[in-house]
Amino acid sequence: MQEWLKISLMLCTFGFLKEIRPSEPFIMDYLAGPWRNLTMTEIVQEAFPVGTYSYLAQLVIIFLVTDLLRYKPLIVVNGLSGIIVWSMLIWTTSLQALKILEVFYGTYCAAEIAYYSYVYAKVDREHYQKVTSQTRAAIYCGRFLAGVLAQTLVYFNAMNYKQLNYLSLAAQTSATVWALLLPSVKTSMYFHRAALPPTMCTPINDGSCGNDCSSDKISVSIPSFKQKILSAFVLIWLHFKTSFTNLTVLQWSIWYALAMAGYIQVTAYIQALWGEVDQTQRAVWNGAVEAILTLLGAVVSLLAGYIHGSFLRPRSSLLALSVLSLGQGGAILLTSTTNQLVISYVGYIVFGILYAFTITTVSAEIAKNISDDSFGLVFGFNTLIALSLQTMLTFAVTDSSGWFALDVIGQFIVYGYYFIVLSVIYLLFLICEILGSSCRNCQ
Ligand SMILES: *[C@@H]1O[C@H](CO)[C@@H](O)[C@H](O)[C@H]1NC(C)=O
Repeated sequence: MQEWLKISLMLCTFGFLKEIRPSEPFIMDYLAGPWRNLTMTEIVQEAFPVGTYSYLAQLVIIFLVTDLLRYKPLIVVNGLSGIIVWSMLIWTTSLQALKILEVFYGTYCAAEIAYYSYVYAKVDREHYQKVTSQTRAAIYCGRFLAGVLAQTLVYFNAMNYKQLNYLSLAAQTSATVWALLLPSVKTSMYFHRAALPPTMCTPINDGSCGNDCSSDKISVSIPSFKQKILSAFVLIWLHFKTSFTNLTVLQWSIWYALAMAGYIQVTAYIQALWGEVDQTQRAVWNGAVEAILTLLGAVVSLLAGYIHGSFLRPRSSLLALSVLSLGQGGAILLTSTTNQLVISYVGYIVFGILYAFTITTVSAEIAKNISDDSFGLVFGFNTLIALSLQTMLTFAVTDSSGWFALDVIGQFIVYGYYFIVLSVIYLLFLICEILGSSCRNCQ
C-alpha cells in the first residue's frame, strides 16, 4: 500500500474511534439525572463555561507547540485527556468534579488540532485534499455510529445514560492505544525549514535533547535554537501576511470564524434547550437527531464540493453567504421559539445542514486562495479567532457571573440574531463591492 494511504487510514482509525461517544447526545440528561442531581443552571451557567475558557486558553498553547512537538505527542494527549474526561464522568458525582473535568475537556478539544494538522506535516502536498476528506469522513462515520448506538440502546432500555459513558471511555482508550502506533513526524513544518548554522548537538535542535547531550554542548546550541525559533516565527509571519492580505481569504475567513463561534455555542447548549422547549415531554430522540444530522451533514459537504464552483464569482458568493446565514439565523429562532419538540429538532437539523454546506464551501474557497504550506496556519488561526469570539459570547450570555446570564431560550434567541447580523454584514460587503466596481467604471 502507498505510504500516504497507510498514514491516512491509520489517522482515520484514530478519528473514527475517538468519535464513538454515545454518551454525548444525552449528556445533559445524564448530568441532571439521579446519578449527579445537578440543576440546569449549574450545568449550563457554571460548569460548561469552564470548558469553553479552558479550551481557548489551551488552544493558544497547543497551537504554538503542535508543530514544535511534532504532532504525534499531542494526538496522544488528545486521547489521554479523553480517558480522564470519561473516567471522571463515570466515577465522580460533584459539581466541583464536573468543573475540573471540564478543564480536561478543554484539553481534549484543543488537542484535536493536532489530528487535523498531522497530515500536512506527514503527507506529500499532492495528497492533502484526499487525506483531508478521508479523515473528515472517518469523523462523520464515528459520530453517526455513536448517534445510532446511543439511540438504539436508549430506545430498547439496554443501557441507561450513565452506562453509555462506559462505551465512550472504551472508545477513548482504544483511540489512545492506537495513537501510540501512529508513525511519528520527523520534521516540523516551521521549526526545521529555517536555514540555520549547523551545530554540534543535533538532538536539541530537534527539540528533544537526549541524555547524551553534555551540558557544554547544550550551552553552545541554545543561541542557535533561539535563532531557529526566531526564523520560524518570521516564516510563520510571512505565510500569515501573504494569506490574509488577500481580500477573498479575509472575507471568507471572517465568516468562518464568526459562524463557527455561533455553531459551537448552538451545538454545546442545544440539549439544554430541548429540555426547556416542551416541559411536558422528555427529549428522548437526541441520538437519532445527531445521527441524522451527521449523515445529512456528510452528504451536503460532499455535494458542496461539486456545487461550489458555480458561485465562484465574488458577487454571487457574497449574496449566497448572506442568504445562507439568514437561513441559519431563522432556523435557530425556529428552534428556540417553538414549544413543540419535533419542530425544535427539525430547526436544529436545518441549521446544521445549512452550516455544513456553508462551512465546506468557505473552507474550500479559503484553501484555494492560499498556498498549501499555509493551510494549518490559516485554519488554526481562524479557529483561534472563532474560539475567542465564542468565549466572549459565553461570558456575555451564558456564564452565571458574566454580563447577562440569560436563560437557555434567551441565549438561543441571541444566537439566532447573531447569524442574522452575520447575514447583514455580507449584504454590506456585497453593496460595497457593487458600489466599488461601479465607481471604478465611471472613472
Ligand atoms: C440524587 O437524588 C436521588 C433522589 O433524591 C437520590 O436517590 C440519589 O442518591 C441522589 N444522587 C446523588 C449522587 O446525590
